[in-house]
Amino acid sequence: MTGFSVTTSGVAMTILITAGPTREPIDPVRYLSNRSSGKMGYALADVAAGHDNRVILVSGPTDINVPDNVDFIPVETAEEMYLAVEKYINKADVAIFAAAVADYTPETVVDQKIKKSDDTLSLKLVRTKDILGSAREVFGFDGVLVGFAAETENVLQNARKKLLKKQCDFVVANDVSRSDIGFSSDENEVTLVFKDHNEALSKADKHEIAHGIIHKASDLKNLKLNN
Ligand code: CTP
Repeated sequence: MTGFSVTTSGVAMTILITAGPTREPIDPVRYLSNRSSGKMGYALADVAAGHDNRVILVSGPTDINVPDNVDFIPVETAEEMYLAVEKYINKADVAIFAAAVADYTPETVVDQKIKKSDDTLSLKLVRTKDILGSAREVFGFDGVLVGFAAETENVLQNARKKLLKKQCDFVVANDVSRSDIGFSSDENEVTLVFKDHNEALSKADKHEIAHGIIHKASDLKNLKLNN
C-alpha cells in the first residue's frame, strides 16, 4: 500500500478499525454477505498506521493486502467480529467502524449441503448484535467513536439518527446509490455528520478521504485529552 501517514500532534494513539463484509454461513458451501470491498477500511488502516500509532484492523474477508504495521485480526461472521471488537476496543483511543456487518444471520447452520427440492426455499434469519451500538454501553468504550452510514436515501438524516442512537462522535455518511463512489470504487465522497454540524469531504481517492477522517478523529482525541 502507499506510504500515507498522519501525525497525531505528537501523541501516539491506538486506533481500532473494522472493515470489509461479514459472511454468515447457511450450509458448508453457502453464505450470506454483501458488496463491501473493504477498500475504505483498509485505506483508513493504512493512513492510521503512520508514526507510532498502533492500528488494530478487525476485518471480514477481502481481496486486499493487509497494510504494513497493522495488527490484523481476520474474522468471518458478525459474531466473530463482535467478539474481536469486545476483546480489543478498550485498548483503543479511537475506534472507527467501517465494516458492512450483516444485520441478519441464518438462525441455524445446517451440517450438510442443502439439496434442492421444492420450488421455494425459506431461510429464517435472526438479528446479529450491533457491534458499534454496543461500544459505549456494553463495552464501556470512552474514546473517540466513529461510525459509517451507507445510505441510499435521506443520507444525512439517516446518518444523524445513527450518530445519536449509537453515541458516536461523528458518522461518515455516504450515498451508496451512486455507482461512481462507495462500495467497490477507489473514490468516495462523504459527509462527516456531527451532533451540531456537518463537514463535507469532496470526491477523492479513498486514501485522501481516510486522511480527512483520521485527522478529524485524532483532533477530537486531543480535545478529549485536553479536557
Ligand atoms: N454496524 C456494526 N454492527 C452491526 C451493524 C452495523 O458495528 N451489526 C456498524 C457499521 O460498521 C457502521 C454502522 O454500524 O459503522 C452502520 O449502522 P447501521 O444502523 O447498522 O446501518 P445499516 O446496517 O445500514 O442499518 P439500517 O439497515 O438500519 O440502515
